[in-house]
Amino acid sequence: MLVKSLKLNNYRNYTNENIIFDPNLNIIIGKNGSGKTNILESIVVVSNTKSFRTNNDQDLIKKGEEFSKIDLISDENDFKVVINKKNKSLYINNNLIKRTSQFIGKLNAILFKPGDLELFNQSPSERRKLLDIEISKISNRYVLALVKYNKILKDKNKLLKENNPDETLLSVLDESMAPLIKTIIEERERFFDVINEYISAMYTMISGKIVDIHVNYNKCSETYEVNEKIESSRNKDFYYHYTTFGPHHDDYEFIMDGYNLNSIASQGQKRMVLIAFKFALIKYIQKQTNKTPIVLLDDILSELDKDNQERLLNVIPSSAQVIITNTDINNLKIDKDYKLIELKEEEDV
Ligand SMILES: Nc1ncnc2c1ncn2[C@@H]1O[C@H](COP(=O)(O)OP(=O)(O)OP(=O)(O)O)[C@@H](O)[C@H]1O
Ligand SMILES: [Mg+2]
Repeated sequence: MLVKSLKLNNYRNYTNENIIFDPNLNIIIGKNGSGKTNILESIVVVSNTKSFRTNNDQDLIKKGEEFSKIDLISDENDFKVVINKKNKSLYINNNLIKRTSQFIGKLNAILFKPGDLELFNQSPSERRKLLDIEISKISNRYVLALVKYNKILKDKNKLLKENNPDETLLSVLDESMAPLIKTIIEERERFFDVINEYISAMYTMISGKIVDIHVNYNKCSETYEVNEKIESSRNKDFYYHYTTFGPHHDDYEFIMDGYNLNSIASQGQKRMVLIAFKFALIKYIQKQTNKTPIVLLDDILSELDKDNQERLLNVIPSSAQVIITNTDINNLKIDKDYKLIELKEEEDV
């Protein structure tokens, strides 16, 4: 999977920008605030339908303008995202795509950025968000189950707020929820199984150290116990006036040599665990789709020493298109051929 070209109209600091990418390695160089992350962000918007920096699509429109447009030509499809003051429209090969689920993941990009480390300290809901985006990108079954589940969950919570909730109606909602919960758990299990197959080896390849890393999936239930657990949580739900059982409470934690990562790892080790996790994610995507995602490295190389930089670049699958950003080419130790994309002063407004 690769980006051939990217055209940005009124996107963030760009009025009109057209970038042609090399199929292998691209390095974007520019000063702080010149728009490097904005370029990677626009590729992520095409991949995930959402930015990682804002929940408000309006922020993506260049200040003072009415709309924003991203045109991305990949080796497989032409993608277009148009954001105006009211809504966002998604197109593949000029056909309007009404359902996000039919757009998300058609282009698959994995971004590495300095802020990724926050994952370890974020709230479970933020951690679930990452999980949901990544699994949604490759599993239509998951995204459909998740959308339906969240809708029923909203209805159920509304009903539980009432003084005397209608128990027959609750049972109907519970019955339609059960298979969706099982699907969500199954797909999350599959995700963590693949991650755990690779994460320790990836960590060793990046750090040069042999350490046992795995991710514990703290799930609400085993799939075979779902119906039973829904039933037995009824009284608790009445007491708290919301749905106490379900995958909307799931979380995951990182374990290093038997200990919770947060309690033992240094900053540098945490960074490498995160990078190893993202590389395991690349394996998951390759395994499920037979395609290699685009690898976006925003400013992360300069945080690593030269040895770790070199090891990291060597772990990237050779089939992957890579786009790296940095303020200075001299910060990087790169032995391969690459296309240099220099952002000019005029672009920062
Ligand atoms: N909606 C917008 N309209 C106009 N300009 C915007 C908008 N959103 C962000 N910007 C501008 O984009 C620039 C930031 O771009 P970006 O974060 O891509 O920089 P960068 O090159 O990654 O910088 P750094 O090296 O510090 O990470 C800032 O100058 C900011 O003012
Ligand atoms: Mg940046």
